[in-house]
Amino acid sequence: MPARCVLGAQWGDEGKGKIIDRLAEGADYVVRFSGGNNAGHTVVIGDRKFAVHLLPSGVFRDNVTNLIGPGVVIDPWHLIRELENVEKGGIRVEPGRNLRISRSAHLILPWHRRIDALMEELRGPGKIGTTGRGIGPAYQDRASRAGLRFGDLEDPEILRTRLRAAAIEKNRFLEGVQQTPVDPDALAEELIEVTRPLLAAAEDTGLVCRTALARGDQVLFEGAQGLMLDVDLGTYPYVTSTSVGMSGLGGGAGVSPRAVDEVILVAKAYSTRVGEGPFPTELHDEIGARIRERGREFGTTTGRPRRCGWLDAVALRYACAISGADALYLTMLDVLSTFDEIRIALAYRRGDEIVREWPAGHPRIAEFEPVYDVLPGFDEEIAECGRFEDLPEAAKSFVRKIESIVDVPIPLVSIGPERDQVLHVQRV
Ligand code: IMP
Repeated sequence: MPARCVLGAQWGDEGKGKIIDRLAEGADYVVRFSGGNNAGHTVVIGDRKFAVHLLPSGVFRDNVTNLIGPGVVIDPWHLIRELENVEKGGIRVEPGRNLRISRSAHLILPWHRRIDALMEELRGPGKIGTTGRGIGPAYQDRASRAGLRFGDLEDPEILRTRLRAAAIEKNRFLEGVQQTPVDPDALAEELIEVTRPLLAAAEDTGLVCRTALARGDQVLFEGAQGLMLDVDLGTYPYVTSTSVGMSGLGGGAGVSPRAVDEVILVAKAYSTRVGEGPFPTELHDEIGARIRERGREFGTTTGRPRRCGWLDAVALRYACAISGADALYLTMLDVLSTFDEIRIALAYRRGDEIVREWPAGHPRIAEFEPVYDVLPGFDEEIAECGRFEDLPEAAKSFVRKIESIVDVPIPLVSIGPERDQVLHVQRV
């Protein structure tokens, strides 16, 4: 398949990093097209564990050119730190060679991070539980046409002028909440200094991508977050600020979404969520705590404990349908061993009403109770299993059951964090 796209099917943290790293083995390009360093993609290579937030997960493969598309928001200070971190682990990323950054990608500036924190404080009990990385305020500036872009860094005069203009509004807000204003000229000088090593990466990455696709190169589009966090399609307002799925891919990468030959969704064998917002299958009991412990469910970006629950097939079917999924890769199956029974939500109940489709846009999703199918559990640890056929019967039927509910083939399951801990599912 020349062009594939990998998307999270739940509330993020589905294990996309590992899948993308695997698929990148045969890819020429890996393209990030949405989000910023709110994402956290983990890749384990032997005894080395890397977490990338802004860098595409193709950086661990020598054959890959990594593109950060126009739909991504970039915190330059963070990007520099991330480059240094992977380099310490022996991974060489060179801006201009195997890393190219869209001139149209917006910048996350220090005031965005401060406003993110302040807004959360002002929301009080209604807070979203953001990652605090300044993502929402940066996208807000993009939409209100007040943002600065990566290309502005190439022209110090433009940079200074735009920063001075942006600072008028930002400082008025900061002073209004008794915060120290920002000196735009000092910020400009700092940005010029900090981003010097990145400038060789500035490009029209959309053109690079379209040219690669026209040549028949293998291009892998790397989604961030998950479809239930999509600004239009997710559990608004408890979502991130972008279109994280196929609807965001066009503008976010600078290509037609029709160029994508295969849409791969990644879902965990259970559900997790970080931050606030509706989560119908959340478990507040010992089972939830055991899933958290077995799955090491603590945020890659913020370290926060993740909320855990059973697989929500209503939400998963919705995510597959809105994405036009060709395949579903199921991760973390190993976490579910040792449970007496395993549950899958097939519908919701609200009062006397049974709801079988995701109630998109419903103002009271938090009141929907899951209606479960209860499946037998399995005792054996499966992380060392070599073939899908060798899995316990209960694990195999669980996978087949999901496949039949969502009506999307599951060709691959992941049974551990390592690159090769995957099983190819044989068609029966
Ligand atoms: P923001 O993207 O930082 O504005 O956060 C908005 C919501 O999305 C919060 O609930 C975050 O916890 C969640 N979120 C953002 N990025 C990720 C991610 O990569 N994984 C899981 N949750 C995320």
